Amino acid sequence: MKTTTRLVIGPAVAALLLGATLASSQFTERPATTTTQLNDQDVQQQQQTVFKPNEAERDAGYWQRAGKEALLEALTYKPVTSRAKNGLIFIGDGMSLSTITASRILYGQLMNMSGEEQKLSFEALPNVCLVKTYNLDQQIPDSAATATAILTGVKSNFYTLGVTGQVKLNETNCQTILDNQVDSILRQAQLGGKSTGIITNTRITHATPAAAYAHTSNRRWECDSYLPKSLGAPCKDIARQLIEDEPGKKLNVIMGGGRRCFFGPNFADPAASNKSGLRQDGRNLISQWIASKRDLNPANFAFVNSTRDLRLVDVAKTDYLLGLFSYSHMSYEELRDRGQNGEPSLNEMTEVALKILSKNPNGYLLLVEGGRIDHAHHENVAGVALRETMALSWTIQKALASVSLDDTLVAVTADHGHAMTINGLAPRGNPILGLSHFQEYSSKLPYTTLLYGNGPGHQQPRRDPSKGQNSTNSPYYVQYAAIHQDEAYHDGSDVALFAGGPFAHLFQGVQEQSYIAHVFGYSMCIGLYSNQPHCDQQSHPRNPKTPANSILLETGGKSSSASLTPSRLFSAIVSAGLSATLLYSSNHLRRPLLGAAT
Ligand SMILES: *[C@@H]1O[C@H](CO)[C@@H](O)[C@H](O)[C@H]1NC(C)=O
Ligand SMILES: *[C@@H]1O[C@H](CO)[C@@H](O)[C@H](O)[C@H]1NC(C)=O
Ligand SMILES: *[C@@H]1O[C@H](CO)[C@@H](O)[C@H](O)[C@H]1NC(C)=O
Ligand SMILES: *[C@@H]1O[C@H](CO)[C@@H](O)[C@H](O)[C@H]1NC(C)=O
Ligand SMILES: *[C@@H]1O[C@H](CO)[C@@H](O)[C@H](O)[C@H]1NC(C)=O
Ligand SMILES: [Zn+2]
Repeated sequence: MKTTTRLVIGPAVAALLLGATLASSQFTERPATTTTQLNDQDVQQQQQTVFKPNEAERDAGYWQRAGKEALLEALTYKPVTSRAKNGLIFIGDGMSLSTITASRILYGQLMNMSGEEQKLSFEALPNVCLVKTYNLDQQIPDSAATATAILTGVKSNFYTLGVTGQVKLNETNCQTILDNQVDSILRQAQLGGKSTGIITNTRITHATPAAAYAHTSNRRWECDSYLPKSLGAPCKDIARQLIEDEPGKKLNVIMGGGRRCFFGPNFADPAASNKSGLRQDGRNLISQWIASKRDLNPANFAFVNSTRDLRLVDVAKTDYLLGLFSYSHMSYEELRDRGQNGEPSLNEMTEVALKILSKNPNGYLLLVEGGRIDHAHHENVAGVALRETMALSWTIQKALASVSLDDTLVAVTADHGHAMTINGLAPRGNPILGLSHFQEYSSKLPYTTLLYGNGPGHQQPRRDPSKGQNSTNSPYYVQYAAIHQDEAYHDGSDVALFAGGPFAHLFQGVQEQSYIAHVFGYSMCIGLYSNQPHCDQQSHPRNPKTPANSILLETGGKSSSASLTPSRLFSAIVSAGLSATLLYSSNHLRRPLLGAAT
């Protein structure tokens, strides 16, 4: 969907507009039953219902109106060509196109709709392109090399991080690694005077976040204990690079899991059955981080390791925040300990990060990874992968509500796909986690709509999924895979990128993954692109959160023909020369609508 890029999305306006509509719960930290707070029974119950499409869809007029609305929105689209002050990049690890489609359907079905017509938050961004994910030496890629492409603008070899293709996997000649390092856009943003941050729900030393700050010939070298003996100084493990080297040591916000590479055997992690740290070099990297920040300024930093501590952070005073919330990866959103001693959501981490980073008058660049979509896919547990995708979508929705696309380039993409397919001819509204209405030709056994090309879900012979220990609707159900692997391997399909904000229109067509860093560089005037014509100008002034001539619009109503749809209201307002902001509507389509006119 195209909308204008002149978006005004402020929490105050959002709150006004959302009122008592469906969407009101979407902006709260605990998004009610619409996302990850579902218990298994809710999901199972809802995923047994076959949802009927809206009766109004039978009329040609319905589609003609919908088409015209979309067209009117597209016609109001104006590319923003002033420099971006801020950049926000969201990576759904393993978030293939089929993952997005299935998550959108599950989300819709949890809202008691047929599902197919629903949209995830980032699907309302105006610009989309396809991204080719292959690595230099691999048709089917891994996250280290794909994240390196996204964040440095240079493609590299499978499993390598922050280095060019001159560096082979497992290269132990330290000089070769040092000579072939490539800088990420986070480093370029720091050199451009911007604040920077990295958030993930995996280990902070895991492949995707590490591509932002580390340079190694093997992504597994997260702790010194994993480094090969033949790799000499000054080459370091990934955790140490984060704490000691640029850009890691200059990151204003670092949040995720993975405490285990920050301590040695003397540390017993109370949140992980007292397991000890994995370092062997005697370093305590957290103490090191604290000491280095204390040297800079004794009062403006915080280390946190629980939700309680995170909530106590005084964002006005904090310029450096290190949050390590788990021993290894953080929990799946639906299994997370939501208590004060537990782990914060991706959403909450992002909210705090944006408050800290946006204090910099020069702007910021923030990377947020929804890293566990990939892990659920690796286990062939599609239900969890879809829920992790919805959690990322809520995080993005919340972030979009606090930034302006006048001065912030936002992109949402995946590093690579997974071999989950939405297969087999299910009718409209069929539960996405359920069984197809059809049977296998030879065995006459039922099958689920979601299946995998490879992974641990393989069975020989294939069993009847309706008679298993767990219902196919359970988020713990393991989908069938055609080829047996201990852990599912990735897929090599293109992934999508959704974008809005300054120069977001450059995300068009089919692009190499390395192109992404170039658009960020150009839009933000950093790295190779600090001297472009648009770089002398100020960022587009941020629109006031509440436009001067604003009208509060209540767009509820279920009847299709009579309801004043948001798009039509929007067009009317544009033609009347007024300002307005529309976010979510509760019209019959129940689709998110991001748009504003000034
Ligand atoms: C969906 O329908 C069920 C059963 O009628 C109801 O309990 C639930 O609140 C509805 N959910 C939403 C999001 O409207
Ligand atoms: C890379 O090194 C690891 C040990 O550090 C080894 O297990 C792996 O097989 C090596 N891979 C290649 C392609 O050499
Ligand atoms: C969190 O950090 C505090 C010190 O700041 C420490 O006492 C506590 O053991 C840590 N908890 C975990 C789970 O690491
Ligand atoms: C971890 O160590 C603490 C302090 O020695 C102890 O109280 C606690 O029971 C231990 N937890 C586990 C799971 O072993
Ligand atoms: C069934 O679900 C439970 C959790 O409810 C899980 O522990 C178990 O591994 C699942 N079994 C199978 C065969 O998927
Ligand atoms: Zn993966």
